[in-house]
Amino acid sequence: MALITNISELHGVVDPSVMRLQGSDMASGMKCIPDAWLSHDGGVITGFGAMADGLPDDCGEVTDADGGMVIPAFCDSHTHIIYAGSREGEFVDKIRGLSYAEIARRGGGILNSADALARISEAELLSAARRRAADMMAKGTGAFEVKTGYGLDTESELKMLRVASRLREEVPARVKITFLGAHAVGRAYAGRQSEYVDMVISEMLPAIAAEGIAEYVDVFCDEGFFTPCETSRIIDAASRYGMKPKIHANELAASGGVQVGVAGGAVSVDHLEEAGDEEIALLAASSTVATMLPGASFFSRLPYAPARRAVDAGCTVALASDYNPGSSPSGDMRFVWSLGCIQMRLLPSEALAAVTVNGAAAMGLDGICGAIAPGRDASFVVTRQLPSLEYIPYAYTEPWIARVFVRGNPV
Ligand code: NIG
Ligand code: FE
Repeated sequence: MALITNISELHGVVDPSVMRLQGSDMASGMKCIPDAWLSHDGGVITGFGAMADGLPDDCGEVTDADGGMVIPAFCDSHTHIIYAGSREGEFVDKIRGLSYAEIARRGGGILNSADALARISEAELLSAARRRAADMMAKGTGAFEVKTGYGLDTESELKMLRVASRLREEVPARVKITFLGAHAVGRAYAGRQSEYVDMVISEMLPAIAAEGIAEYVDVFCDEGFFTPCETSRIIDAASRYGMKPKIHANELAASGGVQVGVAGGAVSVDHLEEAGDEEIALLAASSTVATMLPGASFFSRLPYAPARRAVDAGCTVALASDYNPGSSPSGDMRFVWSLGCIQMRLLPSEALAAVTVNGAAAMGLDGICGAIAPGRDASFVVTRQLPSLEYIPYAYTEPWIARVFVRGNPV
């Protein structure tokens, strides 16, 4: 057993029955214990309480939090961290005035990353992803999702899948894997989108499913990418292999992606920059998590998704980094938390729920991580001494992390 003592405020405590926080519960569902201790063993939380009530008998290794706070580690439910190279050339093009959609139309964007991925070895791809994962964990992430989608042909998608599987074996964080063959039309199929979709369904999906590694299927359902009808065909085909949908929806336009995702029982629909009242109402009435990616809005100068309205309407809102080389080259969930407050007008407590317990729900890790409760992962962040929880997203560039534990391991 291991013990953390002298915690000024233990945040993120939930009743063991809480699997996600919806609507108004996002502000109040995570409790705080002042002047607390926390114990863990075998990678899971075993207990917590007030210092004044006494410590457990068998303390084991003791870490003094020295008056810092403890919060659950972040659950980053949407990333594309397996990629080759970087795309700062497009970054400069965007500064000069090109949009994300224009870059894609000119054959850049995702296709540039696919070209780079095809050129490098599996070992190099793994070591790049490993570096990004280590960086994310050092910044407080204890669980994350990772997608394929820079392969765009069967062999390269399988290469990404193998790297994802190796990464999952190596890192202490929990890793969920999503197949995103329909991220863009591969170069070999230029001008033949419907044939590419047929190939995703008849060739890629069976090959991916046979590996038994990807739990989810994703489609970039948006203007200039894949249609709701194509998305629906891919989701249906994937369901025959037991893969559940997590859909890129409404980033660039009112794409119909939310409707298709909810109808297909998606675990989450993600982006939502262009979601309106109809989409919000649909999500509020469903069990699909509304995942928003403010880092992509920030970096790509897109509108921010309507998080405030979605919470007020009763949705389960998660925030994730979308870490990828094109629209969000950062996996820093501290910044995502701040953007959720500053740009989306979520309260610090609501945004904390969005980057922890609801992020867990958005990748099927409900009840496993993202909150402080007995039996959940001992993945948490110990902060420096800070005045309050609200101070964290407020002081948006201050290095407030003192230590990170992922499933009981200091990272
Ligand atoms: O979530 N929108 C689609 N996919 C990514 C961007 C991928 C890329 O540009 O490489 C996203 O923003
Ligand atoms: Fe994405």
